[in-house]
Amino acid sequence: MTLQDLMAKYGDYQIEMRRYFHQHPEESTKEVKTAERIRAELDQMGIPWRVCGMPTGTLARIEGKEPGRTIMLRGDIDALSVTEETGLPFASCNPGVMHACGHDCHISMLLTAAKMLSEIKDQLKGTVVLCFQPAEEIGRGADAMVKDGALEGVDACFGMHVWADVKAGQVGMHKGATMASADQFTIRVHGFSGHGSAPHQTVDAAVMASSIVMNLQTMVSREYAPIDTAVVTVGKIVAGTRFNVIAGEAVLEGTTRTFSPKIRNGYHEVLGRIASNTAAAFRGTAEVEYNYLVPITINDSKMIDVAAGAGRKIFGDDGVVDCEPTMGGEDFAYYQEKIPGAMVLLGINNPECKATYPQHHGRYTVDESVLIKGAALHVQTALDFLGVELH
Ligand code: NI
Repeated sequence: MTLQDLMAKYGDYQIEMRRYFHQHPEESTKEVKTAERIRAELDQMGIPWRVCGMPTGTLARIEGKEPGRTIMLRGDIDALSVTEETGLPFASCNPGVMHACGHDCHISMLLTAAKMLSEIKDQLKGTVVLCFQPAEEIGRGADAMVKDGALEGVDACFGMHVWADVKAGQVGMHKGATMASADQFTIRVHGFSGHGSAPHQTVDAAVMASSIVMNLQTMVSREYAPIDTAVVTVGKIVAGTRFNVIAGEAVLEGTTRTFSPKIRNGYHEVLGRIASNTAAAFRGTAEVEYNYLVPITINDSKMIDVAAGAGRKIFGDDGVVDCEPTMGGEDFAYYQEKIPGAMVLLGINNPECKATYPQHHGRYTVDESVLIKGAALHVQTALDFLGVELH
């Protein structure tokens, strides 16, 4: 059976699964029903699995007839707290939660790949590990699975993300640093509250917080070289209780991004220096809590060659394109810290099916017709890595 035959055979299954998971999204670490369905599907295929990393993490294994190398294929399974506005017949029935990053597609592509691989198991040389990873959106799932031994005996890993910036029918790949580190910080600002009419008796935390936000803008413009890449974003500010009370406390939350390990390791110090000295200028204090979430996604050159070769067989020579690195983060990086890996971007953008909205948008959707090719790319990459030719 050829891969083309398998794609024809499992096209409907792929769509059915994608729509099921799209309709039943669950947030990070709460993917209980999602994991149940994944495990039920694996049971039906007769593929053994174990819980891994978190109660909702699933690691399955397809062993070939002959021994050989081992590759792990990964799909993340969590959804986001976004209200769906697509109006699709299979829109989310979980209010306020949506698969707005396309992880529903990732689950369905990996399950479909599992179907295909188990059908050709007798021809396999080596092992394919299937990693259904929870909690990607909060940057915790991959780390937890690594710590629970997901990579034991695994030689390489491969992952895919459906991507709004790449046209349907193409798959984007890039060697080296492809996605940025993504960390989180919280700045707590301490002042002294009082009556809105008597500012001289207070230390205004709202003013300090505002000045800190403005001064943080000089990190990218004045701390780092112009050719370096860095993002410092404050996404949330909370201060004060009512209109005529000067705020005594403020809390800022934000994220940092970079492709430079050196910059990443220095963020905590620079944020702390600017926040505390700015607050001090106003007679207040501030401290920074810095949480390392997701390392830099660095694609292994040889694994990208394998994925590109597989990609050309499925998408044609013009279908494999170089994609620009993105400042988005991806916790697949935790696997790549341990073993060679490739994370590629599957194009889903197609105006004809309104699949033009960015990732995480309430109207985000995909050109479903490419998903069977994504499933096939999982399979072909695994076959090429293991050195198997179908006959
Ligand atoms: Ni995502």
